[in-house]
Amino acid sequence: MGNIFARKSMESLMSEANEHGEQTLERSLGPFALTALGIGAVIGAGIFVLSGLGAKTAGPALMLAFVLSGLGCAFAGLCYAEFAAMIPLAGSAYTYAYATLGELFAWIIGWDLTLEYAMGASTVSSGWSNTFVEFLAIFHLKFPLWLAYDHWTGLKKAFDAVGRAAVHASNPDLLPGTKAFSDALAAVLAHPSAQMVANAHALLNAPTIGGVEIGFNLPAFFIALVITTVLVIGIKESANFNAGIVVLKVAVVLFVLGLGSHYVNKANWGSDWHTFAPFGMGGIGLAAGLVFFSYIGFDAVSTTAQEAKNPQRDMPIGMILSLAICTLLYIGVAAVLTGMVYWPDVNIEAPLVRAFLDRNLNSAANVITIGSLAGLTSVMLVMLLGQSRVLYSMAKDGLLPTGFFGAIHPRFRTPWKGTILAGILAAIVGSVTPIDDIGKMVNIGTLFAFVIVCISIMVLRHKDPDRPRPFRTPFMPVVPILGILFNGYMMVELGAANWIRLIVWLIIGLFVYYFYSRKHSKVQRALNGPGA
Ligand code: ALA
Repeated sequence: MGNIFARKSMESLMSEANEHGEQTLERSLGPFALTALGIGAVIGAGIFVLSGLGAKTAGPALMLAFVLSGLGCAFAGLCYAEFAAMIPLAGSAYTYAYATLGELFAWIIGWDLTLEYAMGASTVSSGWSNTFVEFLAIFHLKFPLWLAYDHWTGLKKAFDAVGRAAVHASNPDLLPGTKAFSDALAAVLAHPSAQMVANAHALLNAPTIGGVEIGFNLPAFFIALVITTVLVIGIKESANFNAGIVVLKVAVVLFVLGLGSHYVNKANWGSDWHTFAPFGMGGIGLAAGLVFFSYIGFDAVSTTAQEAKNPQRDMPIGMILSLAICTLLYIGVAAVLTGMVYWPDVNIEAPLVRAFLDRNLNSAANVITIGSLAGLTSVMLVMLLGQSRVLYSMAKDGLLPTGFFGAIHPRFRTPWKGTILAGILAAIVGSVTPIDDIGKMVNIGTLFAFVIVCISIMVLRHKDPDRPRPFRTPFMPVVPILGILFNGYMMVELGAANWIRLIVWLIIGLFVYYFYSRKHSKVQRALNGPGA
């Protein structure tokens, strides 16, 4: 068995970064496009949806939770920036680990990144579908339940609707949105009557195959395929598509800040620490772990390093600027949300839309729905972009089938086969699986990648201190150590079930490594000779 800790030499990485020609990725992205890709990947379900749960968990101190979570990302982001400027290749954390910790760790992190990118895209596709259904509702159009959700989620929604009607019928004075109403609903749903069960299935109205009801999230499937098509057509086209969406969604966030600030009641922020942070530092830490999802994606910029015109200068700009802009916007949104609505009353499913609807600002709520739809579209785009580039890098190293994942389209100059496969998988997972648990795996998978990158940057500074670094992580080793602590803490906060999921996923990956990758690895072949 070869050396599974073999490292890829910096010289071979540099020569790969300097390859050009028809069979290579096209270098066309400048600082604006890269920053837009970062913002495109970041602003999405996290701020438009998860901020509600964050407010319930931290109170008005949600603002501090965004600062805490943003700091964890900033520490990791500075390490990413040093790597991405120094090793401008498409593999991101996978490539950095190959150069520092060796092949096995590189494989683990490459495999882990599928949790962030492909599963992230699937998770967001389901959020996209929810938002799309709301968007249609603006025009009084209804989408059949069985075609808007996977089977289990569709049935849950049908039960929820039937249960609400039952609660209303038995107690018309209870107001939806109040605790009393939620408690009554939970009691009814815990023991549904035979009639309710029949009504729920009638409402779902799903066709059956062999007597089994089916459910299929058509909008999620559709959007994943549309985005895959854009990604195959070209990096420039994808970046332009993304930039257009980013302008729209940032405008919507600014609109939320501008209009919402007129409706802020400062008393809602509390008058002292206890009313500002009703659950103390514990609540803030927990909320930081929850809203971490809203920052995921800025690192995907590093997967486009091989497509940047001047990666040495523009990679750090793209990542750090997008992260800084999003952090400021998020803190602002948290302030407006908790100022407009007293935190216990914040809605969990659509906190921002509900905050405006409650003030009878119906058109403003519609604008937010449109912004959110746009936001989720570009998140999916950059996630799938990142996924195909990591697969491409792994294939170039022989760890995945090179002819398939490493194939570049002669005209479009994109890794088209890997893009199509990743897009189809994301479409299938997003359309037939209940997505909640997958979303939590995305968080832990990403945090794990951040921790590895923080470790790797310290290893490389130690092993290769004199290599030219166009961007240097400041305050070494304080920044990566803080990155490990902050992101490690958030991993711990995610709890045992998510650790088990992560470990199971990595074990599956190790099987693939053992039976395929290590035998086809180019680094192993170079070490052991061509006959190996
Ligand atoms: N940061 C991305 C979002 O919030 C994943 O949707």
